[in-house]
Amino acid sequence: MVADHYSPPLFSVAPMMDWTDHHYRTLARLISKHAWLYTEMLAAETIVYQKGNLDRFLAYSPDQHPIVLQIGGSNLDNLAKATELANAYCYDEINFNCGCPSPRVAGRGCFGVRLMLDPKFVAEAISLIAANTNVPVTVKCRIGVDDHDSYNELCDFIYKVSSLSPAKHFVIHSRKALLKGLSPAENRSIPPLKYEYFYGLLRDFPDLSFTINGGIASIDEVNGALKAGAHGVMVGRAAYNNPWHILGHVDTAIYGASSSGLTRRQVLEKYQVYGDSVLQRYGLGPSLRDIVKPLLGFFHSEPGNGLWKRKADSAVQTCTTIKSFFEETLVAIPDSVLDSAVVKPQSGRGDIFANIYSSLPPPYRTREEDVI
Ligand SMILES: Cc1cc2nc3c(=O)[nH]c(=O)nc-3n(C[C@H](O)[C@H](O)[C@H](O)COP(=O)(O)O)c2cc1C
Repeated sequence: MVADHYSPPLFSVAPMMDWTDHHYRTLARLISKHAWLYTEMLAAETIVYQKGNLDRFLAYSPDQHPIVLQIGGSNLDNLAKATELANAYCYDEINFNCGCPSPRVAGRGCFGVRLMLDPKFVAEAISLIAANTNVPVTVKCRIGVDDHDSYNELCDFIYKVSSLSPAKHFVIHSRKALLKGLSPAENRSIPPLKYEYFYGLLRDFPDLSFTINGGIASIDEVNGALKAGAHGVMVGRAAYNNPWHILGHVDTAIYGASSSGLTRRQVLEKYQVYGDSVLQRYGLGPSLRDIVKPLLGFFHSEPGNGLWKRKADSAVQTCTTIKSFFEETLVAIPDSVLDSAVVKPQSGRGDIFANIYSSLPPPYRTREEDVI
């Protein structure tokens, strides 16, 4: 069953394997109360086979709401079981991955972006997931795969999945993926972004919700995309590599709410309490390096950043607590940086979507009899 009243998040942080782990999400939530946070993709098989060890993969602290679990897989039984097992963890939404081009996933695993070639299967998978949860089920996909990259083929995919399943919200990474010849990282930068396909979907599927993703790197651009009609904006790498300047403005500039007012020093103090408690709790759990990793972009483009990173490099090898790590490294950062709250957003290309409607592809004509 799917919840009746659903509106897509205005701003979300993308699912990113090895990046949007519990530590990063803790830091992100200290900076923004309103951003929706996605987990890293979790394969249904992992959930099913690690049944006795689920906390390790699925537990999170309650302040991480709103939080979305992203699931990947192509085995219907396992997708259903995984959803059922995940229910106990009360995620706000489940997102089904149809965008990952990694050979481990799209190749051997036969899921991720490869599923865009089989929309009927995707609809079946979504229907099964939805039958096993009470929260909305959404899809994250690309605009195409290999030579299947026309606007019409993208529309066929959206049309079939949305008419044969309860999925009504699609996150669109607005570039296609190539299954051969590109690494996952290259697949996130080499195929060109085609935002016109995204805005074409808004025009051609007025009853569905769409979140734009790919290459959006400033709050101006987030606002520009929303102004042009996107229901939501998902930011990945920029929110990871520059969390203070992206997430620090989400509550005020996107949600019109008040900011936490915390300075960077105060955020770090709270993160230190979290980090040291995690280090103490689990003998063989995360390393200090794991906990420090989300901080590496925290002083992005600030004075002292280079020196701080060099100090951090050696301190992760010697320090045993986050407290001592900060004592050794923060001397590199001027007090003026540590003690200021979020200031004016860095300006970006706020007008990149201004003329998008002049370059849309021709409207999609539904060929129901061909498509279904
Ligand atoms: C390190 C890394 C890991 C990623 N892992 C996932 C993943 O698990 N699931 C997914 O749907 N997308 C994944 N992505 C893709 C992002 O969610 C996003 O679609 C992509 O980075 C484009 O957005 P951006 O330009 O704002 O970064 C990953 C991206 C990066 C950089």
